[in-house]
Amino acid sequence: MNNKKLKILNPIMFIAIFTTFVAMLTYKISGFFNYDAYGFKELHEICGFIFVILAIFHIVYNWQWIKSQIFGIKPKKK
Ligand code: HEM
Repeated sequence: MNNKKLKILNPIMFIAIFTTFVAMLTYKISGFFNYDAYGFKELHEICGFIFVILAIFHIVYNWQWIKSQIFGIKPKKK
């Protein structure tokens, strides 16, 4: 179930962080070459925050894996 959610969530996270990065790059390059890249700083912020929210869900959906692999808590046998 969580795997299905992650298959949708992960590509969206990639798009969000990639947009965050490219928006900041565009904003910085526009400063360097002295032209107006209106709204790119805001785009960086918005996509950045979207990424942070999605990252929380990413951790929640991977919690079983984190518990077993990082903390060594194995699921109880039924
Ligand atoms: C892809 C990775 C990221 C890079 C390379 C990056 C880079 C930068 C840089 C260089 C600045 C300074 C801009 C300036 O004032 O000249 C900045 C500002 C900022 N970044 Fe990022 N950032 C990244 C990810 C994020 C994420 C994930 C968030 C989400 C919380 C975020 C939120 C912000 C905010 C709120 C500012 C302040 C903007 C302002 O001064 O109004 N960034 N970032």
